[in-house]
Amino acid sequence: MSVQTAKRRLSPANIEALKGERPIVSLTAYTTPIARLLDPHVDFLLVGDSVGMVLYGLDTTVGVTLEMMIAHGQAVMRGSQQACVVIDLPFGSYQESKEQAFRSAARILKETGCSAVKLEGGAEMAETVEFLVSRGIPVLGHVGLMPQLVNTTGGYRSVGRNDKEVAKIRRDAKAIDDAGAFGIVIEGTVEPVARDITAELRSPTIGIGASPACDGQILVSDDMLGLFNDFKPRFVKHFAELAPAISKAAEEYANAVKARTFPGIEHTFQVKK
Ligand code: KIV
Repeated sequence: MSVQTAKRRLSPANIEALKGERPIVSLTAYTTPIARLLDPHVDFLLVGDSVGMVLYGLDTTVGVTLEMMIAHGQAVMRGSQQACVVIDLPFGSYQESKEQAFRSAARILKETGCSAVKLEGGAEMAETVEFLVSRGIPVLGHVGLMPQLVNTTGGYRSVGRNDKEVAKIRRDAKAIDDAGAFGIVIEGTVEPVARDITAELRSPTIGIGASPACDGQILVSDDMLGLFNDFKPRFVKHFAELAPAISKAAEEYANAVKARTFPGIEHTFQVKK
């Protein structure tokens, strides 16, 4: 009898241990088929609250709910085998208190089977990160440009452009590092600042619009695939152009239906004699 052992997923501790070893690879995923395709190539999949903008057409991530994150988290867990899966705590599910954060994060872990959550915030969230980590919930931090704060910061502007901003982002990253995060996403931050922070921290930094010197990189998969074309931030590179390919396929399908060349007889069921 052959015994098949399931391939073990990478854990948050495995991700943390990659600092100084090799660059960490990450992409976002929101659905089972995309998770299946990305899983063999990444160290962790992030079920980001960017799902609200990318899949639901929302203007910001503020409207994303815990239920949406759990449903997409379950889909990504079903489609992946080896990658560590990290799920975003959405706006309003953790900022009120560390107890609220624990309840939301515990729901995510229990209902999806993922092994970590991500939350946005600097020094003001350090106590919450420490509370979660000390109670068994691995946390990925997120500093720099924080999309959930769009209503108070006034937009998606890169940060670290003056001494005050540089001091703040360094303080924020250090506080989340000291609180025990297994990694920290640095988003939309001028390059030398992200580079310096990476050298200063114990935990790995994961850059998006940050620096090639970060310990790892993440992109929104729909951006990387050329699927989300509403706008293209400077830090995005299309590694494929799927949007025009999809438009072309839809046009060809429509033409074939109108010309009655699809379906062909080979696409139909015949009565067996
Ligand atoms: O929500 C998201 O996809 C993110 C990444 C851009 C890091 O937070």
